[in-house]
Amino acid sequence: MSQTVTLDETIVVQRPLHEVFAYVSEFSRIQEWDPGVASGHKLTPGAPAVGSKFRIDMKAGFSLYYTLIELEQDKRMLMTVDSRVFTAREEILFGESEAGTTVRYIANFDFPAPLAAANRLYPSAMDRVGKSTMLGLKEALQDEFEAPAPSSRLAMADRLVLPGLWRFTRLGFKKSRKHWKPVSAYLGDKHALVTGATSGVGEATATALAGLGARVTLVARDEGKAAASARKIREQTGNPNIAVELCDLSVMSEVHALADRLLAAGEVIDVLVNNAGALFNPRQQTSEGFEKSFALLLLSPFVLTERLQPLLAKSGSARVVNVSSGGMYTQKIHPDDLQSRQGAYSGSVAYARAKRGLMILTQEWAERWREDGIVVNAMHPGWADTPGVESSLSTFYRVTRRLLRSPQEGADTAVWLAAATEAGRISGRFWLDREQHPDHIFSRTRETPQERALLLSTLQELLASTREKPSAGQGSRRKA
Ligand SMILES: NC(=O)c1ccc[n+]([C@@H]2O[C@H](COP(=O)([O-])OP(=O)(O)OC[C@H]3O[C@@H](n4cnc5c(N)ncnc54)[C@H](OP(=O)(O)O)[C@@H]3O)[C@@H](O)[C@H]2O)c1
Repeated sequence: MSQTVTLDETIVVQRPLHEVFAYVSEFSRIQEWDPGVASGHKLTPGAPAVGSKFRIDMKAGFSLYYTLIELEQDKRMLMTVDSRVFTAREEILFGESEAGTTVRYIANFDFPAPLAAANRLYPSAMDRVGKSTMLGLKEALQDEFEAPAPSSRLAMADRLVLPGLWRFTRLGFKKSRKHWKPVSAYLGDKHALVTGATSGVGEATATALAGLGARVTLVARDEGKAAASARKIREQTGNPNIAVELCDLSVMSEVHALADRLLAAGEVIDVLVNNAGALFNPRQQTSEGFEKSFALLLLSPFVLTERLQPLLAKSGSARVVNVSSGGMYTQKIHPDDLQSRQGAYSGSVAYARAKRGLMILTQEWAERWREDGIVVNAMHPGWADTPGVESSLSTFYRVTRRLLRSPQEGADTAVWLAAATEAGRISGRFWLDREQHPDHIFSRTRETPQERALLLSTLQELLASTREKPSAGQGSRRKA
């Protein structure tokens, strides 16, 4: 004989109703708050709506298929649940009381005969499941997590280099994620600018930030690709607020023109992700005479971020995320040869030196802009399967392909640094998989204070000299 079991649990949280609704209705994020869930997947594109489907993979080894059958904004969602174990109807009611925002979860489970018998023997088991789920949701919505402190275990593993390399693969991502806290931060009132948003880590970052509700501006050099990415992000997330700015970021006149346009528009920037990147072999120069790795990976984020500082400061709580690379561990900055003119050229060395320079800028900006509420961090995506890796590191790609992370996994820490409340409390650090890592693992890569000062003064001079020759204003704001 089958059996129906009803659960009815309510929590109260100190968060605005619309933020609570936005977090819970994106039901695939249940993996962040239900301890029984291994992973959540949205099977239908767009914002949650009647007909949206989710697959929830349980740690117990089976999957639940949810269909949203009724949805009232900020009020209620009703879902049917199918699985080979049971069927259910789950209703979540949202409301406001004097004590705070309330979330009431009512579930009616229909268990087939064998499970019904087990359920009669252990009647409190389901009750415990319901309670722990709602406690998990309450904790997620309270959003009072500590930012991870530096770990001597990780610093030691980094120093051993080779044994630590597996952490850059998807296995490292999988292991680290077990310790992560939910991110229920609401980005519906934030504006994020993501460079290199037409592929790989950048597109995944822009998509995730749009999924969290942010208005996102994609900075891209190719109009067709930008339009396609904007369309894809809108369709996938249901967020219509995706804009495009065209700019070849390796050309400083274009970077200045972009900064001029953004400053003239005056819109606050809450999140700036300096992600655009590439590896150049053999040595190439831009039309302005700069070595390309230096231009794209170091001078460009310097010019853009310095010039956008007033819009970041306007936010009062802005985040800058610099997408760096573990490659920086191998190189010291050479401020007297920023353009790799001396000795034989190696694209990976030029790349790693530029990323080292970006780490130094991360630390400098973090100090200098602390009073403006601007938090600046750098991160390593790990080894992610992106068009950039496939085309510029083809042998590495062939050998490691099966171990590479997805672009979404590569983007995770950038999104966390941009969004998580606790990530806003730490500035000037280097992160991988939401964990702090040292900025150097070899003493030979440390720059002297004089070298640091020379780097900064050289970049500042180049910012000024490239600004003196404005272009005809290539690139323009497009809503693709
Ligand atoms: N994937 C990894 O394993 C890995 C590891 C460590 C660090 N990273 C870093 O992650 C970032 C993203 O890399 P990815 O692997 O996602 O590479 P990707 O797939 O090649 O994406 C690079 C993005 O940068 C854009 N870009 C390149 N040159 C540009 C220019 N001159 N102006 C404007 N945009 C430009 C590309 O635009 P187009 O589409 O027009 O080419 C693309 O959108 C880079 O900073 C890279 O150094 C990646």
